[in-house]
Amino acid sequence: MLRATRSARQCGWAPLNCHDAPVSAEERLGTAGVARRPVGAAESQRASRMWWDADAEDYLAEHGRDIGDADFVWCPEGLREADAHLLGDVTGARVLEVGCGSAPCSRWLARAGARPVALDLSGAMLRHAAQLGAATGTPVPLVQAGAERLPFADGSFDVACSAFGAVPFVAEPEQVMREVARVLRSGGRWVFAVNHPMRWMFSDDPGPDGLTVQQSYFDRTPYLEVDGAGRATYVEHHRTLGDRVRDLVAAGLLLDDIVEPEWPEGRETVWGQWSPLRGALFPGTAIFVCHKP
Ligand SMILES: C[S@@+](CC[C@H](N)C(=O)[O-])C[C@H]1O[C@@H](n2cnc3c(N)ncnc32)[C@H](O)[C@@H]1O
Repeated sequence: MLRATRSARQCGWAPLNCHDAPVSAEERLGTAGVARRPVGAAESQRASRMWWDADAEDYLAEHGRDIGDADFVWCPEGLREADAHLLGDVTGARVLEVGCGSAPCSRWLARAGARPVALDLSGAMLRHAAQLGAATGTPVPLVQAGAERLPFADGSFDVACSAFGAVPFVAEPEQVMREVARVLRSGGRWVFAVNHPMRWMFSDDPGPDGLTVQQSYFDRTPYLEVDGAGRATYVEHHRTLGDRVRDLVAAGLLLDDIVEPEWPEGRETVWGQWSPLRGALFPGTAIFVCHKP
């Protein structure tokens, strides 16, 4: 889910040339290997913009069918907003989608009667969003910005949502929580899906090798891919479950639920590191449901 190509984490911490097939975003960015080191907000955002610009095409080629053109799929477990109703009644609601990618969720929201605004850091992702908006006959307003600094007035939205957008990639998620809390009206809901924190312990392998603990759950050192000069070309940050709750509480939000979607019986999809094998044993996604008091 988090990226199109296979993660280097599947190969342990070996150089990326252990892959047996060319991976174009990595080639374009000159990715030379992986690293574990602290990485600040500016370098994270720069790497994410470069990565998602370079990977947008491949990401949509690989996952486009799973996420749909105008559908709201929360996670690789296949949970749909149409069934889960985590956002409540969205009719007429001003909804901010954070890290929208090609914006299938916002188009679904528009068709459900909401007034969505779809925000993403990546211009390439937003170009796909514009093309799909035209192709589906459901264009939505698109905004290019980082989730760390939302270009909206206080209290502008009734609802905010994110399906694996932005939150796993930022160095300071507490800042994103504060920003979302700021742009929500009182009573507004914020629901976001991220990879389940316990997945951090394992390599991103959907097969049997992805069942063995590789590193500490408590190790918050970010995962990076780097170019020949050591600059980050891709970043993922880790927060424990407690960290995520603390970030929300510190932003003045109230946590209503943490949904851990179970792998549906008979679902054969393999989606990045998500698979029926792993899904039968431990959670892959955590969806935080909260609101601004
Ligand atoms: C895994 S994709 C998910 C996109 C979409 N929700 C989907 O399911 O296809 C992650 C998205 O988050 C965006 N993103 C990453 N860092 C961001 C940031 N700091 N601010 C806003 N968007 C960001 C990326 O550009 C990318 O489009």
